[in-house]
Amino acid sequence: MQDYHEFMSEILIDEPTLQQRVKELGAKINHDYAGEELLLICILRGALPFLVDLMRHVTVPNAIDCMAISSYGAGARSFTGNVRVNLDLQTNIEGRHVLLVEDIVDSGHTIAHVLEMLNTRRPKSLKVCALLDKASRREVVVPIDYRGFAIDNKFVFGYGLDIDEYYRNLPFIAVVDLSKYQQPN
Ligand code: PRP
Repeated sequence: MQDYHEFMSEILIDEPTLQQRVKELGAKINHDYAGEELLLICILRGALPFLVDLMRHVTVPNAIDCMAISSYGAGARSFTGNVRVNLDLQTNIEGRHVLLVEDIVDSGHTIAHVLEMLNTRRPKSLKVCALLDKASRREVVVPIDYRGFAIDNKFVFGYGLDIDEYYRNLPFIAVVDLSKYQQPN
């Protein structure tokens, strides 16, 4: 895999800014769910670092579970029309307050599909927390109850977001200059 310094055009959101915003989102969640219990659902794999950091700021009693959804298909960079559940929840969500944690809402199809599916399981409430909102790409209207940052239509990576599955571990969010990026074999 190519060194990311060769194709990164800029750091869009640096680590302190990200961490500050995650802390603020946690505080808002604590306020809104005061006196309640919460189930945080990580939409794998992109939301992993975000969920891990966010949950450390959530002080209301909480549990976590994970779902894996694929919407783009291998190698695709835009919605292909297929949303598939690769890993379902292990938790019964009926009667529980559920918060979906996503790294990014782009076309909106992934979150729309998950909301539709989970609503049939009769949770007490079902809300969405997304770190990044690329609203200019939206194809279906979806509610975002907690939003980290609104971003422009740029190809971003880092902090959970991958470029060909790499660099999810970076502590900041950066922009790819596709003209300088070489896809791995
Ligand atoms: C990304 C991201 C969201 C989804 C958003 O997941 O994590 O789940 O796409 O796109 P949408 O709003 O157009 O549906 P991806 O399928 O790339 O998997 P990943 O989380 O494992 O990277």
